[in-house]
Formats: sequence, structure tokens, C-alpha cells
Amino acid sequence: MAVTMLQLPLPEAITRAPADELAERITDAKRTLGTRLVILGHHYQRDEVIRHADFRGDSFKLAQAAASRPESEFIVFCGVHFMAESADILSAPHQKVVLPDMNAGCTMADMADITQVEDGWDAITRVIGDDLLPVTYMNSTASLKAFVGERGGAVCTSSNCRAVLEWAWKAKRRVMFFPDQHLGRNTAYRMGVPLDQMQVWDPYEDNGGLSDDAIRGSRLLLWKGHCSVHNRFTPEMVDQRRAQIPGVKVIVHPECRFEVAQKADAIGSTEGILKIIQDSPAGTKWAVGTELNMVLRMARELAATHQVVALDDCFCVCGTMFRIDPPHLLWALEALVEGRIVNRVSVPDRIAGPARIALDRMLSIT
Ligand code: 13P
Ligand code: SF4
Repeated sequence: MAVTMLQLPLPEAITRAPADELAERITDAKRTLGTRLVILGHHYQRDEVIRHADFRGDSFKLAQAAASRPESEFIVFCGVHFMAESADILSAPHQKVVLPDMNAGCTMADMADITQVEDGWDAITRVIGDDLLPVTYMNSTASLKAFVGERGGAVCTSSNCRAVLEWAWKAKRRVMFFPDQHLGRNTAYRMGVPLDQMQVWDPYEDNGGLSDDAIRGSRLLLWKGHCSVHNRFTPEMVDQRRAQIPGVKVIVHPECRFEVAQKADAIGSTEGILKIIQDSPAGTKWAVGTELNMVLRMARELAATHQVVALDDCFCVCGTMFRIDPPHLLWALEALVEGRIVNRVSVPDRIAGPARIALDRMLSIT
């Protein structure tokens, strides 16, 4: 079930403050809190926010960072809700995780409602018995991670999906993959699994929209979920950029559709994209299919050595990531300075326990 979030309105003294004042006050609050505070920032955060982060990275790197700072009493997560939940699960009991805006959710994570997941799982295991292991993408609710942990499965991120799938297929013949069909399909295909051994489970259709024979013949059952940001990229955009920029290389996030990933020169997690571009020879031109804030930042920071452009001029911004802005960050930090915790993300023990097992499995596999 999607998490119910309540975001209080911010005081006018913050919403009306000019940008430079906000930046100064955030820096002051950070200084006052010192090592009691760590700020984690996902690559999709806007520049005015990411500049204050102690760690920048993809979901995997930030999950490791959350687990690596036990001295920090407060973890302020500049990202989305499922990331803050994972940080809470992986951090020590004395640490408190704060999400500056509770409306920063993820539409993909919301596509896998836990009741539908349980119903789907029961229907499939009635057909094929228990020769099935669940794997969930990090971009899922803590309840889904707990479901996976209770059934022997693991979490994966876009940077370790292949390793987790390899591990899962050693244990069982079939894998059920939540909630992003594209990450599952793109990764499995590159591992040599043919498309006809992958089936999409649609939670809104009877029996997932699949015959029992189709379920029996599958190696990978893909939950019908997707990212509304990456779904906007099309194969035609790849052709267009290649025509416009001779010699351009195309790199996309694995949340892009199969036909887009197939046309790309490379795929990678956000951290992977950054590294591949940084490590490419000077002068390489790149068209990048991922969230626009990250692409524009790379374009600016690597301008001396590389040409980086967005895969398309469509405004591919993640609206929920964008909700974290300097006013919300400042509001959360100044509350901590005053001894108040606002927007704490705290996963109940009965969910955090099994979810942690699924996350720890991922961290031990990769
Ligand atoms: P990364 O793990 O690649 O940072 O992806 C997170 C995400 O939300 C992409 O849409
Ligand atoms: Fe979720 Fe897509 Fe935004 Fe990532 S980019 S947080 S998957 S909506």
C-alpha cells in the first residue's frame, strides 16, 4: 500500500527567503549540527540541494553511506521516500532519518501494492509450487522489501541487478521481479534469457493476464510497473540524436523501455552513467537518457572534456525528487537545531526486520 504522507506547510519566513539567504542558513545549520548530521543526496536532486550533501550517489551508494555513518544521529535524505525508508532500516536504532518533504514519493514504488503482490504470489505458486524466488528493486516500499525478505529473496538496485539475479537463479528456477518490468527485462536479456521466457504479471488482470502454461514456461515473471520519467524516452529519440550529433554515444538508465535500451551504446545506474562518461576518452559526445537535473549537472561539470546532452528535449524531470528544495531542507535542519525532529521516516519493527534481511542479502551479494 502506498505510504500516507503528511507534509506541513512551511512558515513564510522560509518560503519568502531569497536563495542566497536559504543557502547561508542551511550551511549554518549544518555547521551547528556538525557530525551529528549527515546529508545524503541522490543524483536527481537539483543543484541548490545537492551542493549541501555530504554524500552524492545512486540508491546503492547511498544505502551503503547510510550504513557507514553510525556517529550521525540524524540522516537527512535528499531523495525520495523509499530511499529514506531503506536508510532507516539499515541505520542503527539511535539514528533518525528525515525526509525534507513528505510528498517526495515514487510513482513506480506505488505501483506494487502489497495486497496485490501477495495475491499475485499466491496465484503463481498455486501453479508452479515454490520453485520461485522474489527480487525487488530498491524502488519499492518497505512492506514489499519485507515480503521479499520473508520468502528468501533479496533487494537489488540498478547497479547490482545482474549479480542479484545470478544469485537468485542459482537458488530457484524462476524469479518474480518487482516493481520495474524494464530493469528486470533489460538486465535478464543481457544475461542471455530470451524474451519468450519472460512474462509480465498484470495485477489488474485475472491470473495476471497469463495462462498457467505461460507461467510454467517462464524463468522471469515481471511485475507490470515502470518509471513514469524514464518511460518517456523512445527509440525515435535515439535515432534523432544520432542524426543530429555525428559520432554521439547513447547511454540510458535501465528503467528505460527495452526498445530504447536495445538502441543504446550502454546502460547504467545513475552512478554507473556518471562513471562511464567520466572514464570515456576526452572529446566523447554523450546523449543521456535519464533524469534532466542529473544530465544538466554532468553537462556543466564535464564541459571541459566531454559534450553531454539530454537524450531528448522532453522535460524529463522527476517531479517527486524535485519536491526537495532549499526551503524544505532548511526547515528540516533548523528544526533539528532547535531540538525538534520533523518528517521522521520510521519503519515499524515488524516490517523493518524482514526488509533488513532482504537488504542485507543484497549488500552481501554485491
Ligand atoms: P539509481 O539507483 O540508478 O540511482 O536509480 C534510482 C532511481 O530512482 C532511478 O529512477
Ligand atoms: Fe521513482 Fe522514476 Fe522518480 Fe526514480 S525517477 S524516483 S523511479 S519516479
